[in-house]
Amino acid sequence: MKTFNVKHISLSLGLMAMIACTPKNVRLSSADDVIESRVENLLKMMTLEEKLGQMNQISSSGNIDEMRDLIARGEVGSILNETDPERINQLQKIAVEESRLGIPILMSRDVIHGFKTIFPIPLGQAASFDPEIAQEGARIAAIEATSVGIKWTFSPMVDIARDPRWGRCAEGYGEDPYLTSVMGAATVKGYQADSLSDPTAMAACAKHFVGYGATEGGRDYNSTGISERQLRNVYLPPFKAATEAGAATFMTSFNDNDGVPSTANKFILDNVLRKEWNFDGFVVTDWESAKEMIKHGFAADEHEAAVKSANAGVDMEMVSYMFVKELPSAIKQGEVDIKKIDNAVRNILRVKYRLGLFEHPYTDTNLKDKALYADDHLKAAKKAAVESAVLLKNNGILPLGSNIKKVAIVGPMADASYDQLGTWIFDGESEHTVTPLAAIRKMVGNNVNVTFEPGLTYSRDKNKDGVRRAVAAAKNADVILAFVGEEAILSGEAHCLASLELQGAQSELIAELSKTGKPVVTVVIAGRPLSIGKDADNSAALLYNFHPGTMGGEAIAELLWGKAVPSGKLPMTFPKSVGQIPMYYAHNNTGRPVVGNEVLIDNIPLHAGQTSLGCTSFYLDEGWTPLYPFGFGLSYTKFEYSNLTLDKTTYNANETIKANFTLANTGNMEATEVVQLYTHDIAASVTRPVKELKRFERVTLKPGEKKDITIELPAQELAFYNIDNQYVVEPGQFELWVSGDSQSGTPVTFEVK
Ligand code: NOJ
Repeated sequence: MKTFNVKHISLSLGLMAMIACTPKNVRLSSADDVIESRVENLLKMMTLEEKLGQMNQISSSGNIDEMRDLIARGEVGSILNETDPERINQLQKIAVEESRLGIPILMSRDVIHGFKTIFPIPLGQAASFDPEIAQEGARIAAIEATSVGIKWTFSPMVDIARDPRWGRCAEGYGEDPYLTSVMGAATVKGYQADSLSDPTAMAACAKHFVGYGATEGGRDYNSTGISERQLRNVYLPPFKAATEAGAATFMTSFNDNDGVPSTANKFILDNVLRKEWNFDGFVVTDWESAKEMIKHGFAADEHEAAVKSANAGVDMEMVSYMFVKELPSAIKQGEVDIKKIDNAVRNILRVKYRLGLFEHPYTDTNLKDKALYADDHLKAAKKAAVESAVLLKNNGILPLGSNIKKVAIVGPMADASYDQLGTWIFDGESEHTVTPLAAIRKMVGNNVNVTFEPGLTYSRDKNKDGVRRAVAAAKNADVILAFVGEEAILSGEAHCLASLELQGAQSELIAELSKTGKPVVTVVIAGRPLSIGKDADNSAALLYNFHPGTMGGEAIAELLWGKAVPSGKLPMTFPKSVGQIPMYYAHNNTGRPVVGNEVLIDNIPLHAGQTSLGCTSFYLDEGWTPLYPFGFGLSYTKFEYSNLTLDKTTYNANETIKANFTLANTGNMEATEVVQLYTHDIAASVTRPVKELKRFERVTLKPGEKKDITIELPAQELAFYNIDNQYVVEPGQFELWVSGDSQSGTPVTFEVK
């Protein structure tokens, strides 16, 4: 029988008056006070079962009647994977009207790079070096997802990924802590709008906390061995940026780091997240990650697993029901303090209040008709795909001109409407995809003769029967556009690879096409960096697209014909081969960096002496340079950097460094350059990376235009966790570069006193 319903609890008149009268700038904290008092009032009324119920996230069984009793008993805090607004309302109605306290359910879903309108995968968005792309994409995803009643997404993934074998590198923003921080924070802001109480706001979830991307061997779920200093300098900053952007929730990661699974890691969940960063949202486990601690060998059984994760600071458990089953006895036996439970429930209720769920638990079922695939959403998705494409090679064939009358389109990714959407598109619909083939046909109309002979039917296809037909078609063309890459299923969670070469017979296809003597423009559509050196050699031009989403085809068509100019830059280093991994630009120097006297394998004289090879740090067969470095990407124009100077030679740690330089567009097309500023701390209490990205900026210049640019960098941002794990700027000499990628440019030096 219903005895009490929270919707009857009214705000005290005093507090309401306070909200109405307070000036705008303090209104937020008063609103927070109101929420805190509502949380406390509600908490006082809750039984232990209801508290643990809030900490319980269930996966939808698909059958409302099956879930009814649990919800009516108040034992469900969140439901995962419901997407139909009518059903969501029905479930919510049970919670609000049939449960004793009427606490609404938080409906959740993996909305990772778009709900219906699919944007480029996050790695592609990172290639734009444009936080507005990420923010707008997330805003649109939230507008679409909230239109059906989803109020919480498990995104952004801000795991640093320095190993392209790891399939989940697709889901993050690449290898760099600063780029990932900027893009992750922008994504949080996009989802959550200006305030969580906005009806179109969706709570973000920074994941996977923490170190998941450092998985040994690039194999998913594997262990990590990250030191505390490395955690603080590399892996934690994007998560901190997410809290500063207001991320409402965090998700623990599957991995164990140095022997401790994240889902029971008190140091990261309590010391760092709560105490150092003052995070007041809630922490959810990953899917059964608390229970998996049994398989890790960190808990003997479900009871111990539940106790360890609750005590470490987990607030909500995803789908394994251990909190509801095991914590009552654990509390009775004094293994878990009820105060821990109360705090977890406070954190969850706080987010529900902030989202306005108590006031507006239901969704207007008509909203979706206007929201899904709205014209401006498709337009924004196309812009994102344009900015995310990276031109890696061009012998001058691109952009295609009016002299091109016959185009042979080949390759398994030319018309792959599902695969170009990429990983994690539970709700994306390939019927809405514009493929490159469709877009090119539409764009060139009758002016260009377009033939399509895929050669291979899908990216793993090894059957070469079609290759002959593709080559025959290509022989008559002015240019061959070869669309290769990876099907969506080859990247993302649990989809790791030990080889980074093109799958199936794709490289052979390109090689055969190149033998025709016709220019081959290779367009890669993939979920990770691939080692495509030989394919690049066989191509006149190479345009790389991380799975570009719904509007990828239009974006690529416009880029190929010069209606848009490539401006993307690589968010991850492209190794020549798997053997070079780990390979990332911000590595330490070693005591024996390469100095130019190395001898590669084919040049080693017979019976060469032991020390004849230079004794520096490189591979005999692959050298020390990547295929393409971080930050690299060409344009249809040329950008030149000159006159780099600093406003001073010596700075105090509280001053701001001003880097002045000139950027010139010396080509004949208007284009955008991603200007990158890197620094290097020459000598410190611990060895520091040879370069670190500190700022980036997109600058658009007309043909022939020159611009004097100043980039400001507070010296405070040279701080790092030093030998004592203190976050400090250490005095000394630094180098600073401004350039178009992580490997070019000449540095200037300065000192910090
Ligand atoms: C497991 C994944 O690791 C996580 O990223 C995702 O959000 C959850 N499953 C929920 O689907």
